[in-house]
Amino acid sequence: MNPAPEFQLQSRDFGPDFLWGAATSAYQIEGAWNQDGKEPSIWDAFSHKRWRVKKNQNGDRACQSYQRYKEDVTLLSRMGMNAYRFSLAWSRLVHPQIAGRTSWSPAGGYRHSSTAIVNPCGFDYYKRLLESLHAAGIRPFVTLYHWDLPQRLETSGGWASRDIIKYFEEYAAICVQELGHLVKDWIVLNEPAVFLPLGYLLGVHAPGRRGLKRFLRASHYALLAQAAAARSIRSLDSGCQIGTTISTDGAYPASDSQRDQIAARRYDALMNRLYVDPVFGEGYPLTDLPMLKKMEQYIKGDDLANLQFDFDFLGVNNYTSHRIKHAVWMPWLKARPLPFAKRSRRTAMGWEVYPAGLRDQLIRFGTYEKIKSLYVTENGIALDDVLTNGAVPDAERIRFFQNYLSAVRDAQRAGAPVQGYFAWSLLDNFEWAAGYRPRFGLAWVDFASGDRVLKESGYWWREFLTK
Ligand code: FCB
Repeated sequence: MNPAPEFQLQSRDFGPDFLWGAATSAYQIEGAWNQDGKEPSIWDAFSHKRWRVKKNQNGDRACQSYQRYKEDVTLLSRMGMNAYRFSLAWSRLVHPQIAGRTSWSPAGGYRHSSTAIVNPCGFDYYKRLLESLHAAGIRPFVTLYHWDLPQRLETSGGWASRDIIKYFEEYAAICVQELGHLVKDWIVLNEPAVFLPLGYLLGVHAPGRRGLKRFLRASHYALLAQAAAARSIRSLDSGCQIGTTISTDGAYPASDSQRDQIAARRYDALMNRLYVDPVFGEGYPLTDLPMLKKMEQYIKGDDLANLQFDFDFLGVNNYTSHRIKHAVWMPWLKARPLPFAKRSRRTAMGWEVYPAGLRDQLIRFGTYEKIKSLYVTENGIALDDVLTNGAVPDAERIRFFQNYLSAVRDAQRAGAPVQGYFAWSLLDNFEWAAGYRPRFGLAWVDFASGDRVLKESGYWWREFLTK
């Protein structure tokens, strides 16, 4: 597949140490949902209920990466990638013990403390994966939490309970003790601005809970838990890089009217700044989103200092952007996201492609005084790909990457300290409530057999990274 003639960039233009990789997450690819001592997570519980996920699909088998991880590493190597972002399934590794509840220990499990039992079989899986990556010269970026909370913790309040802070901190510490010799780049949370509103406000993702109060509480505790986990990683390994990952959705006023401009600021505060500003010393964005004053009732003692952490990098995920119009919709938000062009081409997720949105987010977060460096930790496109005669032609995905990579380079030229780029996703996988239909992969997956086939975009990456 030929790149568009106007795309002139070469991978080396991004800098000699720039990292190039692809990203995945545990629940979306591993399968083996109840094997080798894994407990159910909130996504197991949620997807096993009826009509929570399209066509009642679930991640029980997913891409079978638990069995086929070596093929995943081979795919990364074939594309010439030097980094891989994946996540650990908490419920495979550490079984939280809750006072007064029956505890359960998997075969070979050992007690780490009164609140945690460790499952060595789960860690063996990640050790094997990490060793294969190192053998292939691929640097692992390991996310501790990509949305799959142990169901056992959800039944005692999940993210909406202050206890989550100590459980998450202990889980992080155990992961560093077990895997720290193989991991030098940690990512603490994936996209709080997605898993908290969708899981605890609107109830459309696991654990399927609703309510503004619960959402605000969970948001505050997630930030405290994030910083506590990061501090505990730092205390156990002073030489590693620690980052965290946010979702971004560029919010541009739909018109010059003051109402639309203020609405865009409210939307931006909710979608982009709520989980960044307080962490980097700017406080909750109360001026632009006054509803956040309701958060005050959950803020205790030194919380506002404790939720800060001196991260080595911020991971920026971006897929789309919107024009924001003032609206009566949601009384505390009064903002409605609209597409840029009325008849714009939408992806299989219904998202509009807008590369300048990624550029603008990188430039903006690059100007925060306390943000030292940035990685694009997710960016990609879902299409209705078709496998024909052993090949998957996806010219539109190639164009997507070319346009977004140009935007990343523009951000670098404008001074944003971007040090790496991870395409979402290595594989077609379980796309949460949307099930298996939206295909984001650089490799096609046949979900019945588990077979992988590199798409033409995968071959394009190989050419881009190896020439
Ligand atoms: C992000 C998620 C990731 C994937 C992409 C499409 O919000 O982090 O797991 O689902 O969207």
